[in-house]
Amino acid sequence: MVDVKISDILDGKAESDVQLKGWVWNIRFGGGIVFIVLRDGTGTIQCIAKKEELGDKFKELENLTRESSIVIRGRAKKDERAPGGYEIHCKDFDIVYVSEEFPIGKKEHGPAFLLDNRHLVLRSPRYAAIMRIKDTILHGAREWFRENGFTEVTPPIISGNSCEGGSTLFELNYFGKKAYLSQSAQLYLEALIFSLGKVYSITPSFRAEKSRTRRHLAEYWHIEAEEPWTTEEENEKIEENLVFHIIRKVLDERKRELSMFRDPSTLERIQKPFPRIKYSEVINTLQKNGYDIKWGDDLGADEEYFISKKFDSPFFIQNFPKEAKAFYMKRLDEKLVKCADMIAPEGYGEMIGGSERETDVDVLIKRLEEQEENIENYKWYLDLRRYGSVSHSGFGLGTERMVWWICKLDHIRDTIPFPRVINRYYP
Ligand code: 4AD
Ligand code: MG
Repeated sequence: MVDVKISDILDGKAESDVQLKGWVWNIRFGGGIVFIVLRDGTGTIQCIAKKEELGDKFKELENLTRESSIVIRGRAKKDERAPGGYEIHCKDFDIVYVSEEFPIGKKEHGPAFLLDNRHLVLRSPRYAAIMRIKDTILHGAREWFRENGFTEVTPPIISGNSCEGGSTLFELNYFGKKAYLSQSAQLYLEALIFSLGKVYSITPSFRAEKSRTRRHLAEYWHIEAEEPWTTEEENEKIEENLVFHIIRKVLDERKRELSMFRDPSTLERIQKPFPRIKYSEVINTLQKNGYDIKWGDDLGADEEYFISKKFDSPFFIQNFPKEAKAFYMKRLDEKLVKCADMIAPEGYGEMIGGSERETDVDVLIKRLEEQEENIENYKWYLDLRRYGSVSHSGFGLGTERMVWWICKLDHIRDTIPFPRVINRYYP
């Protein structure tokens, strides 16, 4: 008998006589018959065990509880009525471990209880599906970068300077000196383009977000790229091609998982090029719709939600005022910078922040001073402009923001197995 995964059966790829190794997700006892919903991390399938077929051994099943581990041997049968379209007729089994009563019941639990028991909650098929979609997103990103001439690099996580401003920095005691957890690999990627050309990294980034929101994590996985000899227009095409590739990959590999969260055809309809609108147009639209926002302000969550609701494809908001953005963005004119945020549609919001980088060392120094940064900490960064500076651009994609949108989840914390948010780092 061959060992198979539940997904092999659901995909119609398995032989009919199979051996499955998994955990009891649900169990129901009837007279002389037991229904076990088995999960193995690749999917769930109903297994039917009958007393008339198993004889004396059937009694062993009476001890079985949810989350017990078990090996089941039997015949996989197509059955339109079964969830997933297949069923296993159990011929034999080995109970590996009878689980204590599983604290996560079928009944409703409050969010705090579920977060305290996250290590167990993650076993549910819903979280397994989200994590598999995330796996495909990360894999799709690496695949696209490699096919397009980018080299993966490993920037530091501990840094002596900020990239995105002081208000969200996590401070660290670094052998008695002050250091920070990285908010972004960008400044280091900028150094590495001079060595390698196009580079990218996938690292944790940290933001000490002091508010509770549905879209902020204190620790998230940041997909970042930096490209020499590239303008902001070209940078946006790179972002668009990358995101489009990832969406197609999720559709190819994870349609079954995706269907648990949304109708896949909503993603199939997305085409390139993505729409592009200007920051100024967004402000006009918001003002016309009664939002209390003035030109120069950054877009808050509510405003982004309102604009994002109007789209069913990712889109760009271009050319923000310099005051609303980080010090390193290149000037377009006196007021604006050459940048764009890619916004996820359907009410989600910012998924990518990208820009062309300022190349003039004096402008950079002035911007750093305006933001009251200690220039000493940025000496190495300013050197990059002194020795063979070239126009260059790059971006950062929040992996969890993308999973959040693609899976149409309520809260971003469900996109990461062990979420770090304000007041929580257990488990
Ligand atoms: O817009 P941000 O702050 O841009 C940067 O960090 C640039 N230095 C990136 C670069 O050019 N290399 O962050 C980039 C993206 C956001 O668009 C968002 O998707 C995600 O990172 N992000 C967060 N995701 C989850 N939780 C948070 N607290 C996040 N903050 C940013
Ligand atoms: Mg941003």
